Amino acid sequence: MYHEIDLKQIDINQEPPVEEPERQYYFMAKCREHVEALERKLGRRPCFFTQTFGCQMNARDSEKLTGILEQIGYQAADSEEADFVIYNTCTVRENANNKVWGRLGYLNTYKKQHPHMKIALCGCMMQEPEVIEKLKKSYRFVDLIFGTHNIYKFAELIALSFAQDRMVTDIWESTDQIVEDLPIERKYRFKSGVNIMFGCNNFCSYCIVPYVRGRERSRKPEDIVREVEALAADGVVEVMLLGQNVNSYGKNLETPVSFAELLERITQIEGIQRIRFMTSHPKDLSDELIDVMARCDKICRHLHLPLQSGSSRILKEMNRRYDKEQYLALVKNIRQAVPNIALTTDIIVGFPGETEEDFDETMDVVKQVGYDSAFTFIYSKRTGTPAAELKQQVPEEVVKDRFDRLLKEVQQGAAKRAQALTGRVEEVLVEEVNQQEEALVTGRLSNNFIVHFPGTNELIGKIVAVRLKECKGFYFYGEMA
Ligand code: SAH
Ligand code: SF4
Ligand code: F3S
Repeated sequence: MYHEIDLKQIDINQEPPVEEPERQYYFMAKCREHVEALERKLGRRPCFFTQTFGCQMNARDSEKLTGILEQIGYQAADSEEADFVIYNTCTVRENANNKVWGRLGYLNTYKKQHPHMKIALCGCMMQEPEVIEKLKKSYRFVDLIFGTHNIYKFAELIALSFAQDRMVTDIWESTDQIVEDLPIERKYRFKSGVNIMFGCNNFCSYCIVPYVRGRERSRKPEDIVREVEALAADGVVEVMLLGQNVNSYGKNLETPVSFAELLERITQIEGIQRIRFMTSHPKDLSDELIDVMARCDKICRHLHLPLQSGSSRILKEMNRRYDKEQYLALVKNIRQAVPNIALTTDIIVGFPGETEEDFDETMDVVKQVGYDSAFTFIYSKRTGTPAAELKQQVPEEVVKDRFDRLLKEVQQGAAKRAQALTGRVEEVLVEEVNQQEEALVTGRLSNNFIVHFPGTNELIGKIVAVRLKECKGFYFYGEMA
């Protein structure tokens, strides 16, 4: 685990070390010298801004970027009008990319007035060759571009960018390396994401993630346990274990370990009171995992189980490797073993060739399962994926109509599930002072529902008992019991 390292002890006049993470600490020391010089020039401390798009894994990666920027002497700013701006991008749907292109225009205008400013781009979108081509051609004001496989080299790349005035690009096609022990700056002091694996081997036919995140690599269980122990010692009470498909964790390790075994080891770490994980692929969800969830109270009563479609025919086209009946049987098993569990899901509407009958199957699963919440997406064609080659794209207005019907069903079902909890007293982890009403704090139940109740910021990070007084559909108003 990362310990405070005194960068001043590092001799930056020597050659850089070859080993990681020592090499990155050397470059952090080098960058710090540069940032100190900038501080003297500006007459104030230089500041940085990170903008994260996409999933929890990207959010965790951004905490790594922040950790390094703080180590080298920048301080956090709350807007893009900063001395160093980095966008950690997502490319899972077209609208994720569009957001980045839109904001780059604004950054360009700002940089023209502040020429010392550095603009960096990283993350999944940068793994796409067409994106890099477009940046090189029309976005020359971007200083630094790197991808998902070499994020650990951030300090070295900043040093390179400081040393030259041209655009620096470093994109790797893949990697089998996992570099441990780099600085991380957490967004919350009481909860943290923890990567347990990187990449994805599933190649769902619509999905770009395996192409931009590479093949599955699991961290060693002892490294994960060490990280969680250090987090607990630092005041963290809730961890979220992260991977594109946590249920296949550990299969490729030298000494294979199952996800259920890893979870059980983490439940034994003192100080950790809640454990969440994301995401579970239905095809790999084992009885062993259901058993561990049933036995260990520290594991939150919530399972995110992406359905994608309720039609067995579409699921086959999607290469999901389960069918409607298998999914429903799995839900039944889980509910039997963990009766109070909340189930949430992801659903795609308008996959190529989706008929009204296929869509009805999806609606049927939604009704049968009764999700506590669901993310619904309109299918987005991703170049390079097999589904992008399929001819029968569904007309936009048909998709829109199905999407609206689905959303309504999901919301009605979720409100009903929430309503049933009204009046109960539940344990709540207090996360923040309510953004609209200062007299309230906002906390999260084990099952991931949100409750607002009267309280002060002293409660943040504590687990307290709250009576759920009034249900507002997605969230509750409550009072401390
Ligand atoms: N690994 C996770 C999902 C990661 S992407 C899993 O398998 O469940 C998050 C969600 O984005 C997916 O579950 C899917 O519903 C959605 N998604 C992925 N590719 C998409 C595409 N091309 N169009 C629309 N939604 C997509
Ligand atoms: Fe994409 Fe499927 Fe991998 Fe999830 S499991 S990241 S949907 S390919
Ligand atoms: Fe997006 Fe990459 Fe996550 S494409 S959803 S940020 S893995």
